[in-house]
Amino acid sequence: MNIQWYPGHMTKTRRMIVEQVKNVDAVCEILDSRIPISSRNPDVDEMTAGKPRLVVLNRVDQSDMEATKRWAAYFRAKGYAVLESDAKSGVGTAKFSAAVRELLSDKLRAYAEKGQAGRVVRVMILGIPNVGKSTFINKVAGRKTAKTEDRPGVTRSKQWVPIDKGLELLDTPGILWPKFEDQSVGLNLAFTGAVKDDILDVETLGCHLMAYLGTQYPDALKTAYKLASLPGREEGENDIAWGYRLLEAAGRKRGFLISGGEVDTERMAKILLDEFRGGKLGRFTLELPQA
Ligand code: G4P
Repeated sequence: MNIQWYPGHMTKTRRMIVEQVKNVDAVCEILDSRIPISSRNPDVDEMTAGKPRLVVLNRVDQSDMEATKRWAAYFRAKGYAVLESDAKSGVGTAKFSAAVRELLSDKLRAYAEKGQAGRVVRVMILGIPNVGKSTFINKVAGRKTAKTEDRPGVTRSKQWVPIDKGLELLDTPGILWPKFEDQSVGLNLAFTGAVKDDILDVETLGCHLMAYLGTQYPDALKTAYKLASLPGREEGENDIAWGYRLLEAAGRKRGFLISGGEVDTERMAKILLDEFRGGKLGRFTLELPQA
């Protein structure tokens, strides 16, 4: 998988970020807590080098709580401030302003000593499309703000959102990876719906997701599809082959049959992805920090 994402748009967005990073005090990266590495644009470190960093682990309502704790510790160990949030219902978002002030406490103290206590703190918000940036900003701001479209030119590509007297956010268009060196990154982005299905084969995607869930969360899979047991993985069987058999088992149970009694695995794959994205199968994290 080696997909180029709207190269023109990415170049413009990158350029805007690099220009604007000089005007902010901190950078807040919003990540999908189900895929904290795959949802991190690898260029962000280089583009924002030297700026204090706040990592928001968003969608905690959809991810595995234990895994989220491990990820929070992982990012804290890198020196970042970390906030866990479910932007949709607003859990965690009220702590944003305090987390920024804590992150910038030395700077704010220095301002106060210079008699500039009221100086506005500016934070750039970064994140891949669909991670929840605009939902998060709306919750933090306490009102609906104009959504920054992921295509520059659709709305102003630079948008300052005042939060309170002393804090402003800079919303930015979503930036995806320039290309995926590692197949699992592309898969994770596809599972969570960050990239569109029409560029990937849904059945293949369903096989990979089944194989992951069958390995990491077998009980949840059994419960979701009312399977007494999962078809065992045969020695040397790859993800696609085993995942296909899991799709067949789930599809048969759901009664998705086509002529000749075969299972409509494509339909089952679509349902699996929809149910996964809709949170109907449970809470899952698709990658874990290396020990
Ligand atoms: P973006 O600006 O980064 O592109 O993302 P946006 O805020 O538009 O959010 C994309 C979708 O993700 C929205 O759903 C939003 O409600 C949902 N979302 C954002 N944060 C969270 C979260 O923490 N948990 C959950 N479960 N969902 C979240 P939508 O279906 O496109 O819109 P809507 O029907 O919710 O309005």
